[in-house]
Amino acid sequence: MNPCVFIIFSLLLLCLETITSNQLVAAGGGDDNDVRNKCSDKERRALLDFKARLQDPDETLSTWRSEEEEDCCNWSGVTCNNQTGRVIELNISSGGLEGEISNSLLNLSYLTHLDVFSNSFHGIIPMFIGSMTRLRYLHLGSNHLNGTIPRSIGSLRKLRHLDLSDNSHCGIIPLEFGNLTNLQVLNLGSLRKSRVWNLEWLSHLSHLEALEMDEISLAKQNYSIDVILRLQKLISLSLDGCEVSHVVYPYSSSFLNSSSSSIESLILSNNNLTTSMYHWLFRLTRNKLRILDLSGNILDGIPKYLEQLPLKSYTSLNSLNLAANKFSGNVPLWIGENLLKLYVLILRSNNFFGTIPLQLCQLEGIRILDLSVNNLHGTIPSCLDNLTSMVQEGFLPTHNVHSYTLKLFYSGGYHYGERDDKYFDHAMIEWKGYERELISTLGLLKSIDLSSNNLTGPIPYEVTKLYGLHALNLSKNSLLGEIPETIGQMKQLETLDLSRNNLSGDMSSSMSSMNFLNHLDVSYNSLSGRIPSNTQLLSFEASRYYGNPRLCGPPLTKNCQGDDESEVPHVIGESEDGGEDMDELWGWFYIGGGTGFVTGFWIVCGALLLNHHRRHAFFHFYDSFKDLVYVKVMVFFANLQRVEHR
Ligand SMILES: *[C@@H]1O[C@H](CO)[C@@H](O)[C@H](O)[C@H]1NC(C)=O
Ligand SMILES: *[C@@H]1O[C@H](CO)[C@@H](O)[C@H](O)[C@H]1NC(C)=O
Ligand SMILES: *[C@@H]1O[C@H](CO)[C@@H](O)[C@H](O)[C@H]1NC(C)=O
Ligand SMILES: *[C@@H]1O[C@H](CO)[C@@H](O)[C@H](O)[C@H]1NC(C)=O
Ligand SMILES: *[C@@H]1O[C@H](CO)[C@@H](O)[C@H](O)[C@H]1NC(C)=O
Ligand SMILES: *[C@@H]1O[C@H](CO)[C@@H](O)[C@H](O)[C@H]1NC(C)=O
Ligand SMILES: *[C@@H]1O[C@H](CO)[C@@H](O)[C@H](O)[C@H]1NC(C)=O
Ligand SMILES: *[C@@H]1O[C@H](CO)[C@@H](O)[C@H](O)[C@H]1NC(C)=O
Ligand SMILES: *[C@@H]1O[C@H](CO)[C@@H](O)[C@H](O)[C@H]1NC(C)=O
Ligand SMILES: *[C@@H]1O[C@H](CO)[C@@H](O)[C@H](O)[C@H]1NC(C)=O
Ligand SMILES: *[C@@H]1O[C@H](CO)[C@@H](O)[C@H](O)[C@H]1NC(C)=O
Ligand SMILES: *[C@@H]1O[C@H](CO)[C@@H](O)[C@H](O)[C@H]1NC(C)=O
Repeated sequence: MNPCVFIIFSLLLLCLETITSNQLVAAGGGDDNDVRNKCSDKERRALLDFKARLQDPDETLSTWRSEEEEDCCNWSGVTCNNQTGRVIELNISSGGLEGEISNSLLNLSYLTHLDVFSNSFHGIIPMFIGSMTRLRYLHLGSNHLNGTIPRSIGSLRKLRHLDLSDNSHCGIIPLEFGNLTNLQVLNLGSLRKSRVWNLEWLSHLSHLEALEMDEISLAKQNYSIDVILRLQKLISLSLDGCEVSHVVYPYSSSFLNSSSSSIESLILSNNNLTTSMYHWLFRLTRNKLRILDLSGNILDGIPKYLEQLPLKSYTSLNSLNLAANKFSGNVPLWIGENLLKLYVLILRSNNFFGTIPLQLCQLEGIRILDLSVNNLHGTIPSCLDNLTSMVQEGFLPTHNVHSYTLKLFYSGGYHYGERDDKYFDHAMIEWKGYERELISTLGLLKSIDLSSNNLTGPIPYEVTKLYGLHALNLSKNSLLGEIPETIGQMKQLETLDLSRNNLSGDMSSSMSSMNFLNHLDVSYNSLSGRIPSNTQLLSFEASRYYGNPRLCGPPLTKNCQGDDESEVPHVIGESEDGGEDMDELWGWFYIGGGTGFVTGFWIVCGALLLNHHRRHAFFHFYDSFKDLVYVKVMVFFANLQRVEHR
C-alpha cells in the first residue's frame, strides 16, 4: 500500500473512532471497549443526592459539582469501571463528613467498594445495605453509627472485607454473618455495646485471615478455641478485653487432637487470663507465631511442667508483650537465648527481680526493650552495645510481615493500661506522643526503658554507643556516678529521662553538645555546675532540672557563682507564661528544623497510609495542632519583639 494512502486511511479511521466514541459518551451508554464512558446520569444524580444530605465542612466533596456536563468518574473518591463508566468504588474515608447513610447509594448498583471509614456518620446502618450485593469491600469503621447491625449484611455474599469497628452499635452480632463465606477480614473491634449469641457462625468463615473482636464479651462462649482452630487460614487474631478468662470450657476434648492453626499474630491482652490458659495457648499456636501480646492479664509465671516447652519454642517471635501481669522471679534467660528474632520485648509492670540477664544482649534485632516498673537490681549491663539494631542509625525494613499483622506489629507496646499517661505531657509531648505512636506502628522507634527499678552503679559508657536510639528512660533507679561524657554522640536521641537517680558531676562537661533533644529530664539527682548554655538545653522547663541543689544558671533562677546579675538572659525566666511558651516553641522549632522534621514527616505520612485507627486520632489532633502552632508562633514573635526592644 502506498504510505500516503495508509496514513490518510489511518487518520480517517482515527477521526471516525473519535466521533463515534464521543457520540457514545454523550449518549451515556454502549459497549465500546476502547474508551471509557462517562458516568451515567442516574449515578451522577445519586452521588449528588448523597452529597446533598451530608455536611461537608472540610469540602472533601468539592469536586462533586452539579453541572450537567460533569463526569462523576472524575470526582474525588469515585472510581469507575474504565470501560463501562459505572461507579464501582466510593472511597470517602477520613473526609470529615457528617450525616446519615442515605439510600441514594442504592442507585450505584455496580458498587463493589464502599469505604466511609473515619467520618462522623450517625444513625443506623440501613437495612437496604443488604441489597448492594456486588459489594466486596465494606468499611464503615470509626463513625458514630448506632442501633443494631442489620441482619441483611449477611446477604452480601461477595464480601471479602467487612469493618464495622469503633461505632456504637448495640445488640447481637447477626448470625447471618455466617453466610459471608468469602470474608477474609472481619473487624468488629471496639463495638462495646454489641454481644455475640454464639460463635457457631464464625466457624463457617473458612477464608478468614484476620479477625478482630476487641471488647466484645466472649464470657459465655464454651469451646471458642475450637471454633478459632477451625479457621485454618487465620493469620491475625485480636481479642483484647473479651473476658476470655470467664469461659468455663474454652476448648473441647477433641481440640486436643486437632492440628495447630496458622496464627501469626495473637493479641489476648486485658482478659484476666491465668496460667491455665497455657493449656490451650500452646496448642492454638505453634512456631509460626510472630506477635504475642498477653499484657494486662494475671499471669504469674510459667508452670514447671510447661517450662521445657512452649514459649521457648516460639523462635520466630518478633514481638512479645507481657506487660502488666504478675510475673515474678528472674527475667527468663531463654528469652535472650532462644527468641533471637525479637524486635520488641515488653516486660513492664511486673514483679521481675534479680539482675538484667546478659543474655538479653544477644537480641541483636531488638528495637524496643522495656523492663520498666519491676524490681530489677544490679548494674546496667555494659554489653548493651551488642544490640546492633540500636547501634545502627536509620530504619530497618520489616521483613516478611503480612499486611494484616503489620498494623499490629508494634502495637505490642500500646495495649497496656498506662499508655495515655506515658505519652501525654504538655502539648509538645502530646505531639511527640503521636509521633512516637506512629513511628512505632511502623517499627521505627528504638527505645530502651529501664525506669522504676532499683538499678545501681554508673551508666555504662557503652550505652552511649547506641547511636540509633530515639528514647532512653533510666529514671527512678539508684544510678550513681557521672553522665557519660560520650552521651553527646547519641544524635538520634529525642527523649532522655535520667530523673530521680543519684547522678553527680558537672552537667556542662557531659551534655553541652546535646542540642538535638526535645525532651530531657535530669531532675532529682546530684548534678552540679552550670547548665550548658546551648539553646536546646535552655529551652526545657526549669522543673526538668529541679532537685539538683548544686545546679545553676538558666532556666533555673539560681545564678552561678561569679555571674553578673545582668548577664543572665531574661528571655526565659521573664514570666511564667512567657517562659513556658518559649520552651514549647523551641521544641516546635526543633521539630520543624531538625532531622525530626524530615523523618517525622515521612514517618507520619507513611504511617497514615497504613494505619487507619491512628489516622483518625491524628487528624483530630492535627486540627488543634495547626491552631496551636499558629498561636505559638504569634507568641514567639511577640516575645522576640519584646526582647529586641529592651
Ligand atoms: C478530569 O479532570 C481533569 C482536571 O481536573 C481534566 O483535565 C480531565 O479532562 C477530566 N476528565 C474528564 C473525562 O472529564
Ligand atoms: C481497566 O481496568 C482493568 C481492571 O479493573 C485493568 O486491568 C486495566 O488495566 C484497566 N485499563 C486501563 C486502560 O486503565
Ligand atoms: C480509600 O482511600 C484511603 C486513603 O486514600 C486508602 O488508604 C484506602 O485503602 C482506600 N480504600 C479502598 C477500599 O481502596
Ligand atoms: C434512583 O434513580 C431513579 C431513576 O433515576 C430515581 O427515580 C430514584 O429516585 C433514585 N433513587 C434514589 C434513592 O435516589
Ligand atoms: C442513635 O443516635 C441518634 C443520634 O445520632 C439518637 O437520636 C438515637 O437515639 C440513637 N439510637 C440509639 C438506639 O442509641
Ligand atoms: C443465612 O444465615 C441464616 C442464619 O444463620 C440461615 O438461617 C440461612 O439459612 C442462611 N442462608 C443461606 C442461604 O445460607
Ligand atoms: C458453658 O459451660 C458451663 C458449664 O457446663 C455451662 O454452665 C454454661 O451454660 C455453658 N455456656 C453455654 C453458653 O453453653
Ligand atoms: C484423639 O486421638 C486419639 C488417637 O489419635 C483417639 O484415640 C482419641 O479418641 C481422640 N480423641 C478425641 C476426643 O477425638
Ligand atoms: C479482671 O478482674 C478485675 C478484678 O477482679 C475486674 O475488675 C475486671 O473487670 C476483670 N476484667 C476482665 C476483662 O474480666
Ligand atoms: C557481645 O558481643 C561480643 C562480640 O560479638 C561477644 O564476644 C560477647 O560475648 C557478646 N556479649 C554478650 C553478653 O552477648
Ligand atoms: C520514664 O519512666 C518513668 C517511670 O516509669 C515515667 O514516669 C516517665 O514519664 C518516663 N519518661 C518519659 C520521658 O517517658
Ligand atoms: C534497692 O536496693 C538497695 C540496695 O541494694 C536496697 O537497700 C533497697 O531496699 C532497694 N530498694 C527497693 C525498693 O527494693
